[in-house]
Amino acid sequence: MIELGVNIDHVATVRQARRTWEPDPVWAAVEAQLGGADGITVHLREDRRHIQDHDVRRLTELVHIKLNLEMAATDEMINLAIESTPQMVMLVPEGRQEVTTEGGLDVAGQKDHMARAVTRLRDAGLTVSAFIDPEPEQIDTAAECGFSVCEIHTGTYAEIFHQTGRDAEHPKVRSELDRIDAAGRQIRQTGMRFNAGHGLNYYNVQPIAALEGIRELHIGHSIVARSMYVGIRSAVAEMKRLMREAADR
Ligand code: PXP
Repeated sequence: MIELGVNIDHVATVRQARRTWEPDPVWAAVEAQLGGADGITVHLREDRRHIQDHDVRRLTELVHIKLNLEMAATDEMINLAIESTPQMVMLVPEGRQEVTTEGGLDVAGQKDHMARAVTRLRDAGLTVSAFIDPEPEQIDTAAECGFSVCEIHTGTYAEIFHQTGRDAEHPKVRSELDRIDAAGRQIRQTGMRFNAGHGLNYYNVQPIAALEGIRELHIGHSIVARSMYVGIRSAVAEMKRLMREAADR
């Protein structure tokens, strides 16, 4: 059954705007769980712009669904992941100037570095995911490096969907969906788990949730944004309902 991992970084973004204690991402994680989230994702960035080290510690203690720690493959972050033992570590590229993660990880361009990072994390008993663009070379190299999960970057799909008037039948949307679908097939053929995320919202999620063999979607901004009006529990429940409806068709 398809699962939803809720990214709560932007709850911490609001807190950090005042460097205070509220809203607390741990409360948000509990609310997301009560709304039906299967997992919680946080991105501990090098610049600590939203999630802080103490959030990761408290989340591992207090959240009883899967915790997915998104991070760059640096020694500092790898040590921290090994200490905090989340269920999954997702390696992503990180740029200080970017507003959000802008592209997939170039696994093929830094194969030795990635293989070493994955080995350290796997030896500590962690499941390791690569956030990559839907490109055959990246998928093959991810498998060679020992990743057991690939999350396909759906940012380009989301952008095309928006630009073409939210028409899932538009040829440009279909073409990007076909690319993601082919990537999913290749990921599964190489024995890895197929996840997806980035830029997904209440309007564009269903064609992605309907892809064959997809296991988890990681969604943050649209859920946190809707939560301002309807609360986290309802926002998560509605996203989960849309995903399940599409996956069951
Ligand atoms: N997956 C990855 C790897 C991400 O970096 C992000 C954004 O932090 C997400 C999923 C969630 O993206 P969004 O906030 O656009 O839903």
